[in-house]
Amino acid sequence: MRDWPYEAFPTGWYQIGYSAELKTGDVEPVKYFDQQLVLFRTEDGQASLLDAYCPHLGAHLGYGGKVQGDCIECPFHGWQWRGDGSLGTIPYDPEADRRVRIPAWHTREVAGLLLAWYDGFGREPFWEWPGITEFLDEENFYPIFPQGADHIGIRKIIPQSPVENTPDFEHFPYVHGAGRAGNPILWEEKEHYLRTRISFLFGANKAKTWLTPDGPMEGEIETEAWGLGLSNARFKVGEFVTSQLTATTPVDAEHSKLFDTITATREPGDAGDEPTGRSGKMITFQKGQIRHDFKIWENQRYVEHPPFAGREADAYASFRRWSKQFYFGPNGESKPAAGH
Ligand code: FES
Ligand SMILES: [Fe+2]
Repeated sequence: MRDWPYEAFPTGWYQIGYSAELKTGDVEPVKYFDQQLVLFRTEDGQASLLDAYCPHLGAHLGYGGKVQGDCIECPFHGWQWRGDGSLGTIPYDPEADRRVRIPAWHTREVAGLLLAWYDGFGREPFWEWPGITEFLDEENFYPIFPQGADHIGIRKIIPQSPVENTPDFEHFPYVHGAGRAGNPILWEEKEHYLRTRISFLFGANKAKTWLTPDGPMEGEIETEAWGLGLSNARFKVGEFVTSQLTATTPVDAEHSKLFDTITATREPGDAGDEPTGRSGKMITFQKGQIRHDFKIWENQRYVEHPPFAGREADAYASFRRWSKQFYFGPNGESKPAAGH
């Protein structure tokens, strides 16, 4: 990344898929954090992420590997590896005692998302992702899968960029065509977690819009970020709530795989799975809006010491300070450990 000052990928939980898309027996080759990996779900229901290469003779388990019970079987000579990376069996030498294993990644399944933990300094997960309230509340919100699960794919975007929207209340008119900027009303940080509230006039300068049929409405955008991989924006217009999670998972130093997950308040009396009416419109609208941001992020150059102006100075400087914690190890080291 041109002008990017950090060596490690930021520490934290990252989305690597949707639970509903990884069925029992599925095996997928994936690349994240500049490493070849294999993602699979064993017959006990466990989702596992391992380094891709078989320690025996180096076959890639993601190409032809098969789930057998609680193991993945290598396509080359059939050695079986458990989801935790330990050796299950060597079919043609079952008595052999080979002390080999495959590095295993921590995974979680929360609120319909499949997550993996990354820490370039080798630390175990030291926080958990609580999920998004609305994703877990199918009584009042539409299910996120499949309509709200948007696979953006691999883009030339680093995790820092999407989360930097958090302090950026001035970009709404320019990037999103909003009638005016937002107003910051809350900034709350706790270790890896950051929450802000921005008041926002929905439908500003317009007599009516589909979202604000009775004219402009004072509402709010609440943002939450857990590390730099997962950040949610919650749009509140009266009782109508839309929650949109942007997940940015590094693939290499310049590219990430992005997932955009969104739901909105159910239309009155609608118990169906497919968002309709205002909810359906808002979800489609927001999926479009975030693509306007992509255009900026994909082509942006990182400016380490920006000449801030006006009210952005405080918020952006606070953000930059907060975000630094994810790039350094426990002793302030910036170089990732070998093997990460
Ligand atoms: S390379 Fe995997 S079993 Fe031989
Ligand atoms: Fe934006």
